[in-house]
Parts: sequence; structure tokens; C-alpha cells
Amino acid sequence: IVLKEDASLPKALKIKLNRKDIELGEGDKKGTRVKVMGRIHRLRAQKQATFITLVDGYGHLQCVLVAGDLTKTYDALTFAQGTSLALYGEMRKVLEGQSAPDNRELHVDYYEVLGASPSDEDAITNRVSAQQNQWDGQMLDQRHLVLRGDNASSLMKIRAAVERAFQKVYDDMEITKVSPPALVQTQVEGGATLFGFPYYDEEAYLTQSSQLYLETVIPSLGDVYCIEKSFRAEKSLTRRHLSEYTHVEAELDFIQFPDLLEHLEEIICRVIDIVFENPQIAGYLKELNPNFQKPTRPFMRMKYTDAIDWLNKQDPPILNEDGNPHVFGDDIAEAAERKMTDAINRPIFLTHFPVEIKAFYMKKDPSDLRVTESVDVLMPGVGEIVGGSMRMEGYEELMEAYKKQGIDAKDYYWYTDQRKYGTSPHGGYGLGLERFLAWIANQHTVRTTCLYPRFMGRCKP
Ligand code: 4AD
Repeated sequence: IVLKEDASLPKALKIKLNRKDIELGEGDKKGTRVKVMGRIHRLRAQKQATFITLVDGYGHLQCVLVAGDLTKTYDALTFAQGTSLALYGEMRKVLEGQSAPDNRELHVDYYEVLGASPSDEDAITNRVSAQQNQWDGQMLDQRHLVLRGDNASSLMKIRAAVERAFQKVYDDMEITKVSPPALVQTQVEGGATLFGFPYYDEEAYLTQSSQLYLETVIPSLGDVYCIEKSFRAEKSLTRRHLSEYTHVEAELDFIQFPDLLEHLEEIICRVIDIVFENPQIAGYLKELNPNFQKPTRPFMRMKYTDAIDWLNKQDPPILNEDGNPHVFGDDIAEAAERKMTDAINRPIFLTHFPVEIKAFYMKKDPSDLRVTESVDVLMPGVGEIVGGSMRMEGYEELMEAYKKQGIDAKDYYWYTDQRKYGTSPHGGYGLGLERFLAWIANQHTVRTTCLYPRFMGRCKP
């Protein structure tokens, strides 16, 4: 059978699947005749008709091919998930008691296959399985096909919306966007997680954070931010560590520590509000995380020393990595931090970490020189999503800090110069976009929030 378009029918209007202003037929009333292009997402061949759920990246549409010539072509008999098509027909309201996306369906009168997809053992349905977790190795190998699924694609739309929201809030706050380099010759967060590579005949690294560069431009640009990739050669496989992640970083000039905390509350709450104002994105989030509660301000403030007490007071106490009760100076490891955050079950500003366990550039608390003016923002389900601090202001103090960390001050002359030419009280932070997403979209791991996640042992596809 060879199909031919009926020339007596009205000319079809080409639309994307999210277009809502289309006249729907109902009873004797004719709907608009449209042309839609997309791929078969679901296929159901029944005796009276073949039902296709078409997707085009903008929406879903139920398409009905009444059994007959339309369903007897070779093309129709080999329809499969993924087949790309142009479908022509009348848009109609779905019958009472039936349901379909947007309560409408396309009554197909003609179609053309644009690209077939295998229906044999190589079919998409045999390569990715809805039963398997997206973070499984085999599913990660098929990531390019997994991304065609509803779950993964709505997450990617949420991700785009969140990034847009950050940009909007920074814009509204008159914070200027800059784009620091990814190829660098200085470390920010310790040598252990540096990715090195040969750079012509020198050594260079992939950036761990753009912070130091942001600090260099506040004198001329005022408050600045960037949304760039950061790279960490993390040698452990956890739910929240990636080798390549998207880092939302900002640096604010002429502030005190409490200002930094208030700014963080503001930015997080406003981004959430903007994201939920978009009905499509709010719908995706409702599906992925039906119990999500917008955080209320002020966030809980908790000093590091109080967190240590809290961990030790639990019954049984939450122990440190060596299996002992926590003492001042211990890192609060991921597991302990998670337990605490989940028990408290609201956003926490964990502040004033000891100097020894924090980065070289952090400002000491003038009222207790053992600790820094630093903050981690902890969210239920994920733990730390932000790390920030006030920055050391004094030249001598910074030189001392380099020495203590075994950093060669020579390579940092451009950073040190900020203290030489008009230093200022300033601070900033970095937020892991994937962790933020894992929090709001209730993801088991940050891996599913990435287009193509990179972590130890995975650099493909
Ligand atoms: O706490 P971190 O290491 O802080 C910095 O890099 C600062 N220099 C940022 C700044 O002040 N401008 O990292 C900040 C955030 C973490 O809270 C976490 O959300 C995210 O970056 N992050 C990671 N996300 C995924 N995978 C990893 N390996 C990450 N390492 C840090």
C-alpha cells in the first residue's frame, strides 16, 4: 500500500507539540488540520486503531491511526520507538472518559516516515529499560538513549530553568557575569583533586573553582558571578561527587559575614520561586519530588562546634571516620553530615569551621582565631550544596597561609596583589548546580542531573 495525501483536505498548519491555541474538533465540529513532526515515544497497536504517543522535545501528543490503509503500509507495520515521522490530521478533543496529554488527539489522515528506528532485537526498548536505575553502569552506557526518556528529559529542562533563574536573580541584583578560564596554573581547593595536563611545554590544571579570578575583578566590576565548569579528580565514588560539575560562584565586595549568609538565603529562595513560577517546570518538579517544601527564611544557623556536640549527643552517637566520637578539628564526613541534615530536615548554614580543615584563603573569625568565617549550606537529602567564606584581607597573613599549605606564593602573585592594591572585606561562595538539582528534584545521585556525567571510571559517552 502506498499512501497519498488527500488533496481535498485543508492545508495542514505546521506546529510544535506545545502549541495550545489549536481549534479542537468535537462531534460534528471540525478541528484544525495540522502537521506535526516528532518521534514515536510509545506505540500501541490495537484492532481498531494504532495509538502513537509522539514527542518532539516540546510536548507529547496522542495520535490515532484508524485501522485500514494507514496501518497496513510496510512503514506502519515496522513502526518502533524512535521512528521519526511527519503526521497530518485533524486535532480533536479526546472522548469523554479517555485521557491524553492536553486532552487532545490527532486523527491522522496521512503520514511520512522521515527516519525509521529498529523494531527488532536492536530496538530502543531492548537497550534501555524503565526497570533499571538511570545511574546503573549499563544505563550510563546508553545515556544518549536514556536522555530520550520522560524522566531524564524533564530533569534537563529543570536544569536549564534553574540556570536561567540564577542568571535572572544575579541580573536583578546587578551582579555582573564574567567567564574565567578553565585552564589554570593554580589550585584553589587542595592539590589532591587537581587534574593536570601538559600545556605546550608547561604544566597546567583544569580549574577547581573560579573564585580566585572572581576576586581579582571586584575592584572594577563590583559584585561578580560565573556559571562555569569546575573539575575535581575525586578518587571516591559517592552519590554527590563528580569529576566535572557546574559551579555557580559569586564574589561580593565590602560585606561582612552575616551579609554573605543573608545573600545566600536570598539567592536560594528567589531561584526556587522563579523556577516554580514556570508551570511546565513546576509540573515536572511535582512529578519528581511531590513532597518538596520551599525553604523558609531564616535558614537555621549552626556553628561547627555545635554540630560536633549534636553528633556526639545522638543515641547512639554519630562517629567520625575513625569510629570515634567527633572532636574539634575533625572533618564532618559525608555520611555524618547527611544523617544530621536529614534528621534536622531543613536547610542549615553550618558555619565557623576550624582553620585546619578549610582552604588557605579563608578569613579567621576575629573573635575566635581557631575558626574561619566559613559556611556550608546543607540541604535535606543531599547535604552540602554550597561552600563559601569571607576571604583573608591581609598581605602578610596570606603569605603565611601559602607557606602553611606548601603553596608556592610565586604562582599566586596576581591573587596576592589584591591584598597589596587596596584590599577589602569581601567574600563569596560556590554552589554545585548538580547538588542543587538533586535536592529540588529528589535525585538519588547527582549523576542523573548531568547530561553526560563524568566521575571516576566514566568519561563516555
Ligand atoms: O566547597 P567547595 O570546594 O568550594 C570552593 O570551591 C570555593 N572556592 C567556592 C567559592 O567560594 N567560590 O565547592 C563548592 C561547592 C560544593 O558545596 C559542592 O556543591 C560543589 O561545589 N562541589 C561538587 N559538586 C559535585 N562534584 C564534586 N566533586 C564537587 N566538589 C564541590
